[in-house]
Amino acid sequence: MDLSKLRIDGARLRASLEEMAKIGATPGGGVQRLTLSDEDKRGRDQIVKWMKEIDLAVTIDEMGNIFGRRAGKNDSLPPVMSGSHADSQPKGGRFDGILGVMGALEVMRTLHDNKVRTERPLVIVDWTNEEGSRFAPAMVSSGVWAGALERDWVYARTDINGKKFGEELERIGYKGKVPAAKWPVHAYYEFHIEQGPMLERQKRTIGAPKGILCLHWYDVYLTGEANQVGPTPMEGRHDALCAAAEMILAVNTLPDRMHGNMVATVGEIQNKPNSRNIIPDGVHFTVDIRSWDDEHALKAWELLKTDFHEIAARRGTPIRIDETWRCPHAPFAEPLVRRVLDTAGELGYSSLHMVSGAGHDASYMNQVCPTAMIFVPSIGGRSHVEVENTSWSDCEAGANVLLHCLLKTADER
Ligand code: GLV
Ligand code: MN
Ligand code: MN
Repeated sequence: MDLSKLRIDGARLRASLEEMAKIGATPGGGVQRLTLSDEDKRGRDQIVKWMKEIDLAVTIDEMGNIFGRRAGKNDSLPPVMSGSHADSQPKGGRFDGILGVMGALEVMRTLHDNKVRTERPLVIVDWTNEEGSRFAPAMVSSGVWAGALERDWVYARTDINGKKFGEELERIGYKGKVPAAKWPVHAYYEFHIEQGPMLERQKRTIGAPKGILCLHWYDVYLTGEANQVGPTPMEGRHDALCAAAEMILAVNTLPDRMHGNMVATVGEIQNKPNSRNIIPDGVHFTVDIRSWDDEHALKAWELLKTDFHEIAARRGTPIRIDETWRCPHAPFAEPLVRRVLDTAGELGYSSLHMVSGAGHDASYMNQVCPTAMIFVPSIGGRSHVEVENTSWSDCEAGANVLLHCLLKTADER
């Protein structure tokens, strides 16, 4: 058959995404499938069932990464891999991550139906804990697999209730026996929603990022002195929340002070004892810094740390800082990025060469093999929210680009 005419089934892709969106559906139209929760388990069970229906050989490794392998004509060649993640943010959307897993599955179904056998094997992957929302940091399981993070360090990470990653992985039945250690991969493609406004603004269908920004995560702990709010004079207080408030504004103004080329965010905070009539004596908050330039992000952090120590000293609120995670910026393989752009053109879709501000497992895969991503527009540029949306026709377009990129790359000798 003329493979250039081959197309995925957009209606089937939509049906799979809608089925997955029922698992952990939220009243606001999004999903909550937090890593290693019962919903995550149900999502995984569904994915494994679908993989087996088209005869993929399923393997689960000791990080709970799920691989579905389709044999190639020359099965000893390193495979081409594609996938993403099925976990979500709390009150996340119906597309982030799962589009890349369902998109790769739809490609495999299309090849299965049409009895197409590629030269190299193909592997779908569902990475565990891409989001890093329940268990920080993000992308840990591709990180362990790539050899950039330690398995036991990740197992020991705790959620807000003190539950350990390793124990929760075991509890949901997805702690596999196969070592989470890289094997040769010919190339990796990750299909994902853009999660930003660029494609929509420029009226393009397909985005091909040149790479992903660095991600630096920090955890800040402040100790104050609790007291009754009524009788305690304003002078001499050691209010941990006021110190945090000043620090949060310092984070927000940091990109300006660094003359741009970065973003900085505080997204999570816990305040103790969190009572309206007690002066707060314990605050934890997170800092997320991203830039294309790792050195620039580190310089920004040095400036911020100086601010934090000055504020903590002035307010008498001792500070502890954990430098939790640094994932360097990931410049993708240019020939593969070019292939995404060319393939979009061949299929009649407009495209944009851009950059990814969102983190993806592709960052760690980029340390293992040539890597590229395929983006489709996010309506209103919204993501990590329940209203996250992408048109079904754009989902179909992206999956067709993935299909043809995989066909070309899997037939390379
Ligand atoms: C991953 O979802 C990120 O934080 O970009
Ligand atoms: Mn994602
Ligand atoms: Mn996400």
